[in-house]
Formats: sequence, structure tokens, C-alpha cells
Amino acid sequence: MTDKELILSAFKAREKAYAPYSQFLVGAALLCSDGTVYTGCNIENISYSGTVCAERTAIFKAVSDGKRNFEAVAIVGGKKDETIFAYPCGICRQVMAEFCKADFKVIVAKSEEEYEKYPLSELLPKSFDF
Ligand code: THU
Repeated sequence: MTDKELILSAFKAREKAYAPYSQFLVGAALLCSDGTVYTGCNIENISYSGTVCAERTAIFKAVSDGKRNFEAVAIVGGKKDETIFAYPCGICRQVMAEFCKADFKVIVAKSEEEYEKYPLSELLPKSFDF
């Protein structure tokens, strides 16, 4: 699975985003160590705190299917006809830290060609642990 293929999956997932309040549409594609890919979109709620981000949708789908080992996630987001570098929020970073190793790759993409790639340890240094 190439970075570009994972980004393409995130773009497809973004088509399902439910974001009537922010109009900010996000898609995520999570690559499991066994090669399977789980996708997710953001799902908003009129009671705003009920909103779930695209990354967590993908991770929770995978974990609830019994997956526990992950390699990378691609994230694409922006208002309707644009994409910006949509970096994962703090809660999603913490959820990644729960299931993913320090070298887990976070790909934040504007397009298949224009993307940035970070190890999780760079996005969430000195994370909570006990
Ligand atoms: N959002 C995500 O899906 N992922 C993030 O990491 C940040 C924010 C969503 C939540 C909400 O539906 C919209 O983007 C605006 O915050």
C-alpha cells in the first residue's frame, strides 16, 4: 500500500463526511499491519460535543473489528471544494497513542501529490503514560 493509495482512500471516505454544522469535511484511511484498510469520516452532532472525528471513526471501526496493530493513517480535510493540511486534533492524537507505536506514520494530505508525513512521536511528544 503506497502513501498515494492510502490518501486516495481517505479522499473516498471524505465523500461520506457528515458535517452540516462546520461544513468541514474530513476523511481518514487507516492502514493495519495485516494490510487491511479502515476508513472513516467525521460525524457531527447538533449537540456539538457528540461529534466524532474522521480519524477516530476509522480507528474505532478497526479496533471493534479486532485489529490492534497499525502502520499509518492518511487524513484529508477542508471545506467543500478545498483541502488544507488538516492536522489531527489532540483527542485523536491521544487515541492514536493508545493503539499505535511511536513510529506510526501520520500522513496529512492536500492531494495525492502534496502531503506531509510525521511519526506519531513528533505530533504527540511526551504523551501521558503510566
Ligand atoms: N475534525 C476531524 O474529523 N478530525 C480532526 O482531527 C479535527 C477535526 C472534524 C470535527 C468536526 O466535524 C470538524 O472537523 C470541524 O472541527
